[in-house]
Amino acid sequence: MVLEKLSLEGNVAIITGGGTGLGRAMSLAMARAGADIVVAARRLELIEQTAAMVRELGRRALAIATDVTDSRQVNRMVDGTLSEFGKIDILVNNAGIVREEVRKPIWEITDEEWHLGIDTNLSAAFYCSRAVGRYLVERGSGKVINIASGYGLRGERDFFMYCCAKGGVIQLTKSLALTWARDNIQVNTIAPGFFDTISSQIPEAKAFMESRGRFIPVGRVGMPEEIGPLAVFLASAASDYITGELFIIDGGGLAGGYAPTGYAPVILI
Ligand SMILES: NC(=O)c1ccc[n+]([C@@H]2O[C@H](COP(=O)([O-])OP(=O)(O)OC[C@H]3O[C@@H](n4cnc5c(N)ncnc54)[C@H](OP(=O)(O)O)[C@@H]3O)[C@@H](O)[C@H]2O)c1
Repeated sequence: MVLEKLSLEGNVAIITGGGTGLGRAMSLAMARAGADIVVAARRLELIEQTAAMVRELGRRALAIATDVTDSRQVNRMVDGTLSEFGKIDILVNNAGIVREEVRKPIWEITDEEWHLGIDTNLSAAFYCSRAVGRYLVERGSGKVINIASGYGLRGERDFFMYCCAKGGVIQLTKSLALTWARDNIQVNTIAPGFFDTISSQIPEAKAFMESRGRFIPVGRVGMPEEIGPLAVFLASAASDYITGELFIIDGGGLAGGYAPTGYAPVILI
């Protein structure tokens, strides 16, 4: 009766940015919980790999090459999902730019750089929610999960687009949640802290991750698979009375005031 509520059996989930990192981890977690998965991002090879992993778990999967900063491509991806699977139950707005983000004096940031940061990390979530929203409202149920960041709650020196966009994602969640509160659609945000999505591909990054982890209360950075159960919970009937909320998953970082300010040196103890 309790664990059954966590099942995603028979659900269809769209996960943007699901070819790598946290998006792949959430795709696999939701597939293990019973969902069929649509993975949408630009690099077809990587989303095809995730789709193949989902099929190995016995679920249906579809990879749709999509640039989520282009609303026409987003609309096509949603139409493609509906024609292949016949329905959508869950949307995870996960695509984002982390490593490409530019840190430099504000006067050196071009309009193009500003728009790329804002469009990838915020407008994309708006486009996807808009494209899926009408369908969910007409049907009268659904789950939307927006992936923000600790940077949506704090600033950092020379770090404009990411902080502004992730703060906007938290606000988008609240407005969508209130808009659809009477339509049986729950919208929530997950704000991850530091997760190691790179050292499985780049072994040299392991030492960097270990040094970062020393400043986090639990003593380590998060592993991608640790976000999966939270995403499954927020996608499942177990969270039907939770909407507009922010879930921080950061090993106690925010609770302990861990704040990368751009001023403090990383001190190796
Ligand atoms: N890892 C962390 O520590 C951390 C912490 C806080 C928040 N987050 C957030 O978690 C989410 C996932 O991050 P990650 O760490 O897993 O990083 P990642 O591996 O770089 O994943 C980001 C994904 O977004 C996709 N993407 C980027 N631009 C896109 C576009 N224009 N259209 C479609 N897809 C696009 C990328 O795929 P393509 O390049 O193939 O399009 C990629 O798969 C992001 O929103 C990030 O801001 C991560």
